[in-house]
Formats: sequence, C-alpha cells, structure tokens
Amino acid sequence: MPIEVSIKKGYDEISKRAAKIIADAIRNKPNLVLGLATGSTPIGCYRELVRMHKEEGLDFSRVVTFNLDEYIGLSPTHPQSYRYFMDQKLFNYVNIKRENTHVPNGLSDDFQKTCEEFEEAIKKSEGIDLQLLGIGTTGHIAFNEPGSPFDSRTRVVNVSEQTIKDNVRFFKSIDEVPRQVISMGTGTIMEAREIILLASGAGKADAVAKSVNGPVTEEVPASILQTHPNCTFIIDEAAASKLESI
Ligand code: F6R
Repeated sequence: MPIEVSIKKGYDEISKRAAKIIADAIRNKPNLVLGLATGSTPIGCYRELVRMHKEEGLDFSRVVTFNLDEYIGLSPTHPQSYRYFMDQKLFNYVNIKRENTHVPNGLSDDFQKTCEEFEEAIKKSEGIDLQLLGIGTTGHIAFNEPGSPFDSRTRVVNVSEQTIKDNVRFFKSIDEVPRQVISMGTGTIMEAREIILLASGAGKADAVAKSVNGPVTEEVPASILQTHPNCTFIIDEAAASKLESI
C-alpha cells in the first residue's frame, strides 16, 4: 500500500487537518487508543485539540494515550522531558485521566522491565488505534535511527549524533542533551491500525521524499511505512518540495 500524501499550504493547515482526524477518531470511538509524538511539529495539532475540547466539548475522558519516547535521566517535571511536554501542550488542558496517559519512565531503575511493561500496557489496551508521528531529518520515527531493525520493540536507544544536533535547540548546550532514550520500536509502531505522520518545513523534504518514493530500507526508518495498510503523511508544501525528485 503506497503512503497516502496530503499536501497542505503551511504548518497551520497540517496541524488543523491532523487535529480533525484525531477528533473524528475520538468521536467515533470515545475510548480511542491514541499514540502521540513530541517535538516541535505536533504542537499546533495539540493546540487545536485543546481548542476543540474547550469550544466544541471534544471529550478525552475515556481516551488512552501512549507516547513514543522519553529521555533517560530526565524527571517528569524536567522542562525538556517528554512527560512535561505532554502535560504542558495537551494533557493539562483536556479532560484526559492521568492514569490513561502512558509516557515511558525515564528514571526507571530497571529499563528492561519498563520497556516490557510499556509493550504489555499497549497489548492490554488492545493495541494503538491511531498513531501520530513526526519524522527526523535522518528519516527516524520515534528514536528509531537509520539501521534500526524494522522489527524492533520498545527499548533503550542511543541517540544519533545528528539527532543530538537537531535537538540541541531545546537545551542550553549540547552537553545537556540526553544521549539515551526509551523509544517505541519500529515494529511496535507498525502495529498501530492507522498512522498519520506530520512534517513541516524544507528541512524535512529529503527525509519525506526518501520515505515516500525511495526503497524500503532500514537506512531510512520511515520508509517501512510504505508497507503499512493505512498510513497518511500530512505535510506542508516546503516538506513536500523534493517529492518528485527521487
Ligand atoms: C518525538 C519523536 C521524534 C520526532 C522527530 C521530529 O516524540 O519521536 O521522532 O517526531 O524527531 O521532531 P520535530 O517535530 O521537533 O522536528
């Protein structure tokens, strides 16, 4: 199944489209199991979901969420932790139950167990209905960097040099960027029943083009999405600018 590509004018339009898909999915299935991403790209989508909750009564009371990843060594209250990000961008402003939100524990004393329990919790929820993704300039999804096995599961991953550089903008210095994360595996992500991937800006154009038009290869992790039965890329014109050139 080729990846469906929906090209919108700019960031605002991709954010609103993604939020509409998520909102419709929640209205169709109030106990939706929703996979979530962090990073700069989904912020506009979360803002729109908060607006829909406040103005249109979008009800999160039975929604269950699983986040893709978390930095190892950062506490849930650290401003750069992904748990803190989710609280600040979405969870604190909608009526989701805290116990229904799952972000891997970056301060675990047994990471193997944490990863197994995370996978177990997804299974117990009967799998992820709709997974929201971003894409790294390396083509990564979650922290599955080039070379990660397509059948990988939730595990501890070393962050690549390129991704450390890409993420330094969120920290005071490069030394503060954590070197390890807990990340859902590519195999875990591929089991979601529906996937939407958001990309904005020219910096993502190469990764998008290789993922959509290039060969399916572990060197471009998002290229595996070509084999997913229900995957849509919602991208702006800048991120789509290299699509034909591959
Ligand atoms: C975040 C995640 C990452 C980001 C990707 C793009 O939970 O899993 O794969 O989606 O690094 O990040 P931004 O959106 O900041 O460009």
